[in-house]
Amino acid sequence: MASTSTLTLLLFLIFVLSLPSNSQSSSPVLDHHQESVNGQFDEWISLNVKHYNRKREESLKWMQESIKHKKQKVPAAPANASSSSSLDPKLRNAEMNKMIISVSQDGSGNFKTIKEALASIPLYNMRRVILDIKPGVYREKLNIPRNLPFVTFRGDSSNPPQITGNDTASAIGTDGTPLKTFQSATVAVDADYFVAINLIFENTAPHVVGTAGEQAVALRISGNKAAFYNCSFYGSQDTLYDHKGVHYFNNCFIQGSVDFIFGYGRSLYENCQLNSVAKKVASLTAQKRTNSSILSGFSFKNSTITGSGSVYLGRAWGDYSRVVFSYTYMDKIVLPLGWNDWGKTIRDSRVYYGEYKCSGPGADMTRRVPWARILTDEEAMPFIGTYYVDGNSWLIPPY
Ligand SMILES: *[C@@H]1O[C@H](CO)[C@@H](O)[C@H](O)[C@H]1NC(C)=O
Ligand SMILES: *[C@@H]1O[C@H](CO)[C@@H](O)[C@H](O)[C@H]1NC(C)=O
Ligand SMILES: *[C@@H]1O[C@H](CO)[C@@H](O)[C@H](O)[C@H]1NC(C)=O
Ligand SMILES: *[C@@H]1O[C@H](CO)[C@@H](O)[C@H](O)[C@H]1NC(C)=O
Ligand SMILES: *[C@@H]1O[C@H](CO)[C@@H](O)[C@H](O)[C@H]1NC(C)=O
Repeated sequence: MASTSTLTLLLFLIFVLSLPSNSQSSSPVLDHHQESVNGQFDEWISLNVKHYNRKREESLKWMQESIKHKKQKVPAAPANASSSSSLDPKLRNAEMNKMIISVSQDGSGNFKTIKEALASIPLYNMRRVILDIKPGVYREKLNIPRNLPFVTFRGDSSNPPQITGNDTASAIGTDGTPLKTFQSATVAVDADYFVAINLIFENTAPHVVGTAGEQAVALRISGNKAAFYNCSFYGSQDTLYDHKGVHYFNNCFIQGSVDFIFGYGRSLYENCQLNSVAKKVASLTAQKRTNSSILSGFSFKNSTITGSGSVYLGRAWGDYSRVVFSYTYMDKIVLPLGWNDWGKTIRDSRVYYGEYKCSGPGADMTRRVPWARILTDEEAMPFIGTYYVDGNSWLIPPY
């Protein structure tokens, strides 16, 4: 819109400048003509500015209305997901054809291991398959491949099952080469539409300050449209690899030391507790948005930051790293500077690090880096609802 006005203005100027060249002379008649052109020009400009402002207001109002609309739509979505018309059709179909299989280590379920249960699901599965996982410690390394969508891991909230491992980036894989961060995950999800409810994901490899290759991921989520409710993620360096896609985390506990939530996902974390066990100054997030046109970034809403080790809220992994905290309680372990550019000052003008209505001793903005943003209502709005992750097309109540 602004560019249209600019273009119109430019055309107008070209028109004025292309008037007969003697209009620049000092003859009184032509001066008069020039004055009248100037008068018209001023009038035109002021009309144009009014027009622009009106359009701008209209579009802002429209944006706010549409966000409000979407915002109401998500919580209002019926418990019966299949009747929600905005739901993406593949998902709607999968939800209408749910099946449940149980996993129990004592042999009382359909399977004794999660791996076996996953292997029983046909590839390119189109149904929601719920793995009802009984309490226990499952020492399994799991990968849910791209062609196994619609899998749900469901545990019991009073005694959630725990999936644990201890691989690190430097551990040697079956092919004789180091796993690297990506493959260190205890649970790796490449499939879309994954859901986990009441689960504990863990990587017990410790982080020893000053050593390399200790990255040890508890969960990597690379699939699109994934949701996590009541889940805990325990690790040290690189606990939660929020790799890519849109994701939603609700009422989750995430613990780690260095960059413990990282990746280039577009994710909303609501009602979560982020717990630092850093032994040396570290960063809570390392968000990797690499260019300004990518819709990627982490938004934390109504969460708490606690723990024992000092942390930055984020450090810029990508040049355009984007992280927003809203309505979040920040304990004193949050460093007063708040944010870190990872030694690249060019990122200071490119990252988008915002804070909105946060509280607690760590939320004091007086000593923040100058490029941290205190968001206005309008700026915060896009980040503080499930619409931030296009929730209305795929986010459904877990039961
Ligand atoms: C869900 O909605 C569908 C379509 O409206 C209906 O046929 C079905 O009975 C509903 N299921 C429940 C559990 O309400
Ligand atoms: C990792 O776990 C395996 C299996 O329990 C165990 O044998 C191994 O000692 C552990 N490695 C480390 C470094 O803790
Ligand atoms: C989450 O856990 C609480 C208890 O801590 C439980 O009441 C609630 O039903 C759980 N939510 C889901 C989606 O299971
Ligand atoms: C904020 O988070 C807390 C703790 O998870 C939860 O009890 C509360 O309901 C949340 N409030 C809102 C408005 O979501
Ligand atoms: C940003 O990334 C997108 C997707 O990879 C690409 O299409 C686009 O050209 C990139 N833009 C710039 C300015 O690098």
